[in-house]
Amino acid sequence: MEFTNHHTDILLNLLRWRRDVRHFRPDPIDPDLLSRLEDAIALAPSVGNSQPWRIVHVKSQEVRRQVLESHQAANVDAATGYDRAKREKYVSLKLAGLRDAPVHLAVFTDLSPKAGDGLGRQTMPETLTYSTVIAIHTLWLVARSMNLGLGWVSILEPDKVHRCLDVDPEWHLTAYLCVGYPTFDDDTPELERKDWQSRAKQPWLIR
Ligand SMILES: Cc1cc2nc3c(=O)[nH]c(=O)nc-3n(C[C@H](O)[C@H](O)[C@H](O)COP(=O)(O)O)c2cc1C
Repeated sequence: MEFTNHHTDILLNLLRWRRDVRHFRPDPIDPDLLSRLEDAIALAPSVGNSQPWRIVHVKSQEVRRQVLESHQAANVDAATGYDRAKREKYVSLKLAGLRDAPVHLAVFTDLSPKAGDGLGRQTMPETLTYSTVIAIHTLWLVARSMNLGLGWVSILEPDKVHRCLDVDPEWHLTAYLCVGYPTFDDDTPELERKDWQSRAKQPWLIR
């Protein structure tokens, strides 16, 4: 397969218009699209081809309620770490779309996967988590190409999320994702638009 500038332009546009989404329409996602997303994740690279991501599609309303509660508690805690002015700004931000997103995915990393037989991770075991993060980014981009939005929620208490999903103790929470149709499109990150943090190109060092 030979790609051209045309494909590069499409990919760059996808990257430019990918956003972390916190505002969702409640419309459901077609199960066929969800299954295409599931297939796309399998295309991600991973250390030793270990594919350590373990994904739970959270459908239980009770579990979702507990996750929302955990987010609210972690968010209150996080706010206390800022001085007054910054705290006011922080609490004005919407940092998760947990109430409206039709699909919730809890993404774990199996820290002892059999696949891969340990290749590539002897001195850097954290590469398992890196692999899961790349799988999430793969999902993020493919979802965007389907006009779906994804929001990454890390303001959570990982032990509580682990407990309420009752998963293998070797699985560590890497991300909790909200997926659905965004209420609006933007080429600028929301945290930039809300004057929290703008993007800046990090120059490469030369040695
Ligand atoms: C590891 C990770 C954790 C994140 N956690 C949160 C979160 O808890 N809440 C939130 O609103 N955004 C979260 N984000 C999204 C970032 O805020 C967002 O990517 C950044 O502001 C740039 O915006 P953009 O993704 O729209 O380009 C997270 C992103 C990453 C990569």
